[in-house]
Parts: sequence; C-alpha cells; structure tokens
Amino acid sequence: MSETTQTPDESMDRPLETTSGETDEQVREAWLDYQFDGETKVAVEDLDVHYGDDHALKGVSMEIPEKSVTALIGPSGCGKSTFLRCLNRMNDRVSSARIDGSVRVDGKEIYQDGINLVELRKRVGMVFQSPNPFPKSIRDNVSYGPRKHGDLETGLLARLLGRDDEAAEEQLVERCLRDAALYDEVKDRLDDNALGLSGGQQQRLCIARALATDPDVLLMDEPASALDPIATSKIEDLIDDLAEEYTVVVVTHNMQQAARISDQTAVFLTGGELVEYDATETIFEDPESQRVEDYITGKFG
Ligand SMILES: Nc1ncnc2c1ncn2[C@@H]1O[C@H](COP(=O)(O)OP(=O)(O)OP(=O)(O)O)[C@@H](O)[C@H]1O
Ligand SMILES: [Mg+2]
Repeated sequence: MSETTQTPDESMDRPLETTSGETDEQVREAWLDYQFDGETKVAVEDLDVHYGDDHALKGVSMEIPEKSVTALIGPSGCGKSTFLRCLNRMNDRVSSARIDGSVRVDGKEIYQDGINLVELRKRVGMVFQSPNPFPKSIRDNVSYGPRKHGDLETGLLARLLGRDDEAAEEQLVERCLRDAALYDEVKDRLDDNALGLSGGQQQRLCIARALATDPDVLLMDEPASALDPIATSKIEDLIDDLAEEYTVVVVTHNMQQAARISDQTAVFLTGGELVEYDATETIFEDPESQRVEDYITGKFG
C-alpha cells in the first residue's frame, strides 16, 4: 500500500465511544466478522481515494455479496458516490482523483492495466440520481448500448437464433422495459421521445437502459431522491425484484428506504471512513458503533 494507508490508531483523532464502551478498534474487529449469504461479487480492499490533497475515502474494505441489495448510507460528503464510482472505474474520468487499493469483481482485479473499461461498465452498470435519458425515442434509449457495442448482432442474436436485428431489438426492448417495471406504461408509445416521460418513468427507463447491456452489478446513486412517494415506491419494489438476478449497490440518504430495501448496509461517516458494515437489521437495530447509532437515530449527520 502507499503512504496514504492509515492504521486504525492513526485515524482515531477524536474520542470514540461505542454502544458497549469498547474501543473503536474492538468494534471494528467485531463487525469485520460479518458473513452474508451468497458468493462475494465485489471485493474491495484498502481502498483510498484522493482528489488532489483531499482524502475522500480512507482504507475502505468490504465484500459485497451477489444477488442482494447493499445500501450505502452516511452524511453528505462522506464519500458514498466516490465509493460507488470506484466500482466501475468512473472515477478514472476525474483528473484529480487518485485511487489506491484493490477492487475485484468476480475475483478479477479491475484496477490493473489492460482492463477493458467498456466491458467493465457493461458488467457493472450505473444509474444516476437524476434521470438522464437521451433525447431519443424510448425504444432507442433502451437499445442504445447494445447497438453501439454491436451486441445486437453478436451476443444477443446468438441467443435469439435466427432472428433479424429488428426482432432482436424488439425483444430486448420489451424484456428490459418489463424488468424495469415500465413496459405496460409505455408499450403503446415506444417511438415517442423519452423526454416526454415523467421523472419516475424516466428513471425506470434509465434502469432499463442499464439492464440492456446485460450487467451483473447495478450501481445506483440515490435513484429515487428526485421522485415523489409513488414513483419512489415503484423504484423500491423494482430494486427488490432486480436483486433476484443482479447485485445491486444503492446509495440513499433515506434511512427508512435503506432499511426497507437492503440486505446489508454500509455506514460511511465524515472523513471517508467505512464505520460499520453488517446485515441491515443489525445496523438499524443493534449497531456496534455509537457513532452509527447516533447517525441512525438522527443525533448527528
Ligand atoms: N470530482 C471531484 N473533484 C474533487 N473533489 C471531489 C469530487 N467528487 C467528490 N469530491 C469530494 O470528495 C468528498 C466525497 O464526495 P462524495 O461526492 O463522494 O460524497 P457523498 O457521500 O456522495 O455526498 P452526497 O451525499 O452529498 O452526495 C467530498 O469532500 C467532495 O467534495
Ligand atoms: Mg453522492
């Protein structure tokens, strides 16, 4: 590791209490014991991110199990989006960002030379906070990725033996829109401009678009924060369904939402530290760390 690595002792620059009166180090040892159902899909080890001199993430290690929902919570500026963007190397686009440490997807290091970033981002798809459909038809939004990468002719067509391009596209668009719980609302207007959809529909369209490249992992950065309660609840139901097939990692500011939708929850606190990571029920009902309890009960953050 580089000189940026901190021992837990060095990072203890403030008095720390825990729910049980133990040291933060003992707490860490306790929760580091977590075990989840399912194989590890994404393994993060000693991840450090700097933006120039700003140390945004400090020595974060966590294992994300497949086919489940992992929530990332914590106050503004604690590094949730930074962490999420590390998982498909979106931070590579930020010129001031320096990333140290290891991220493995299916056991394969993504921070090594020769990684195909287009392939990586197809497998580890992303949905952003504000829906950002292209100013194209609903159909074209969904088929954009596979068309651009030629997958309509190759991967998909191989599976859809004997079909022509248009039929393959039709089938892909319907499957992804169904998976994103949008199909019934738009099936009669697939050629209309996507910008004519409501915010909640646009967000589900962006999820359909992400699904079209056949990802294994879906990263979502506050996917429902701009939506009304009904649209939000649709997205929550959708996330629940998606987790049967995909590994979903979702950032949310809404604690009830994290508690409702996730299987495990990672709590980041100011300074870019992962303070606790465990089964969602444990985090919300019986966290090890006093700081996490204070955050969850609204005493700080
Ligand atoms: N592109 C960037 N360039 C420089 N600094 C950045 C950049 N992106 C994030 N940062 C800094 O890194 C830290 C973590 O930011 P990040 O966006 O990851 O936080 P967050 O937890 O997602 O916050 P929020 O809940 O407000 O979205 C902050 O101090 C932020 O200012
Ligand atoms: Mg953010």
